[in-house]
Amino acid sequence: MPRVSIIGTGYVGLCTGLMLAENGHNVTLVDIDPQKVKNVQSGTAPFHEPGLDDALKTQRSTGRLTATTDTQTAIQNTTHTFLCVGTPQDEDGAADLTAIEKAARDVGKALQGIEREHTLITKSTVPPGTTRTLIQPAARNAANDAEGDHLHIAMNPEFLREGSAIEDARNPDKIVIGSDDPETIPRVEILYQNHDAPIVRTDASTAEMIKYANNAFLATKITFANEMANLAETVGADWEDIAQAIGLDHRINPNFFRAGVGFGGSCFPKDVQAIAHLAREHERRSRLLDAVLEANHAQPIRAVDLLEEETGPLEGKRIALLGLSFKPDTDDVRNTRAAPIYDELTQRGAKVTAHDPQAAKNFQDLRPDARIVDTVDEALQGAHGVIVQAAWTAYTKLEPTFFTTHMEDAIVVDGRRALDAEALKQAGITYRAIGQGRRLDA
Ligand code: UDX
Repeated sequence: MPRVSIIGTGYVGLCTGLMLAENGHNVTLVDIDPQKVKNVQSGTAPFHEPGLDDALKTQRSTGRLTATTDTQTAIQNTTHTFLCVGTPQDEDGAADLTAIEKAARDVGKALQGIEREHTLITKSTVPPGTTRTLIQPAARNAANDAEGDHLHIAMNPEFLREGSAIEDARNPDKIVIGSDDPETIPRVEILYQNHDAPIVRTDASTAEMIKYANNAFLATKITFANEMANLAETVGADWEDIAQAIGLDHRINPNFFRAGVGFGGSCFPKDVQAIAHLAREHERRSRLLDAVLEANHAQPIRAVDLLEEETGPLEGKRIALLGLSFKPDTDDVRNTRAAPIYDELTQRGAKVTAHDPQAAKNFQDLRPDARIVDTVDEALQGAHGVIVQAAWTAYTKLEPTFFTTHMEDAIVVDGRRALDAEALKQAGITYRAIGQGRRLDA
């Protein structure tokens, strides 16, 4: 029976560990941060993610999931190790591989002289070639097993989304397993025997490239939607209907086609930059991905422009900003579009009052001067306009009268096209959204 250790207890490590424990495997989560280990041991989610607390408590009570700071013992007591450490971005957009290289070395060191089979699996997102040229030699050299007699190496990317991470880990669309040694693939496959998702078996670099290409495609699809939506709005056409019609073409599909203030989060911006950087390094500059990044950078400003078209000059105006996380159902503010929107509003002289159901503290760390209030009432009170940046249910379920009673001027810019436009219009609210060419108040 395989026993699994997981290095790194962030989103990917924690959700992978839970999914494997749910599938009956014994899992040890390893982290250098004692607080994260304490969180897991006490069954408390270290960050906001729907279902995480319950899933943690359940798996703790089965005895199959545990956590430690002791890397060496964890590795020695297990048969498989997943590397789930962060691969942040360095100044020029490349992936910083320092942490993952160290983790690979730590795994090798723990296995030095141990003549038992062990499979080391990269799950972190790493540039193509990293498992083969960096992780494999780092681990095998440290283990004194240069030929890989005992230490087998694979790459198994993760596609889970924040906000639905547990469900995505339980029900992936696909399982990608890459190894340069075909005999290693079944050693990883055994961990997924309770899943019925299709398995793509390939080499390590291709598995790494699949993850980047997957994210780059989705980021490009969203950016295409944004570009078309901006144009639709200008010519008096409506992106919702256009997206629906295009999505009916089975070659395209309607998912991830929502126009808005652009993509944020811990993956899309970082991964597109990393792959664009990799392309430049290989003298194969990706004009497409460079353009995606440029367009995504400009997109949040469109929401501020729409607002100012309705409010007039923003200087001195009171503006509410609802939704500070990069998307609803998470407290993650990494690359959130709320930051450029907040900056643009303040730069144009608006007095901004912000709100978020979960991410207030994290956003306050990003923008210490921001005025963030505890309730939506307070955020809207006396406002001359509001921008909804993340479509939390707390905002989408608001009655139209809530806006009219609290706001000085009922002007709503829906950055995610998530509110009930017709109902708002009926209540006499000025409603604008990216890609909405038909003026509802006309
Ligand atoms: C993403 C990938 O979806 C996931 O497969 C990968 O493993 C990690 O990165 P995540 O960043 O958690 O997941 O969230 P996702 O739901 O993909 O949204 C990313 C950004 O795109 C958000 O800012 C979201 O608001 C935006 N988005 C998404 C759109 O603007 N339009 C859409 O249609 C979908």
